[in-house]
Amino acid sequence: MKLRLDKYLADMGCGTRSEVKAEIRRGSVTVDGIKAKGSEQKIDTDTDTVCFKGQTVGYVAMEYYMMNKPAGVVSATEDNRDKTVIDLIEDKKRKDLFPVGRLDKDTEGLLLITNDGELAHRLLAPKKHVGKVYYAKIDGIVTEDDVKAFKAGLHVDDTLEAKPANLKILKVDTAQHTSEIELEIYEGKFHQVKRMFEAVDKKVTYLKRLSMGTLQLDQTLKTGQYRTLTADELEELKTYG
Ligand code: URA
Repeated sequence: MKLRLDKYLADMGCGTRSEVKAEIRRGSVTVDGIKAKGSEQKIDTDTDTVCFKGQTVGYVAMEYYMMNKPAGVVSATEDNRDKTVIDLIEDKKRKDLFPVGRLDKDTEGLLLITNDGELAHRLLAPKKHVGKVYYAKIDGIVTEDDVKAFKAGLHVDDTLEAKPANLKILKVDTAQHTSEIELEIYEGKFHQVKRMFEAVDKKVTYLKRLSMGTLQLDQTLKTGQYRTLTADELEELKTYG
């Protein structure tokens, strides 16, 4: 890929476009060992070696991370109050990463983080009906009637008619009056899982996403940990989405 030197450096987080332009003028940037000619100099990302203040800057066009999101962190790129999922990725190369879809602040589990807008768009497009599986702990006894109601599609409130969803009861504790479930939904409305359970008079007390389309949460990732997607995971997701 060929691109302007200032874009190359800004994409790789060396500074804003104007900051890197100033550094290029100052002579802090070399291309293949020779002082850069100017901000507009075309760089071949496959063959040229760019050094910024003496450090080699490798170019990465796309990044894909799987995170086991911890509670207490927001699914956003920036936030004035809270830490974001992007802040947690310490070794990122790109500065234009974003989470694909949102999990609530108190929800844990699978989050895809990338700068691939095309893939994100396909995974989030309502028409694609990409399945998302959640594990939840519920305050209340989840019954076969709830399974049927979820399967039929649920009237949640004036703003949400939930599409048919697959509810699986994993465990019921009659003494504690609690349940554990897995729920697969094919849409992603605001607080959807919590609102679906509220509609059947129950409360989600813990929520974790386990999968999105073909992408399964790596069970070896502790909450707050992340890793890059494997080539197979990426290939499957791209062909599925
Ligand atoms: N449904 C919710 O209620 N919260 C989430 O974070 C995800 C799905």
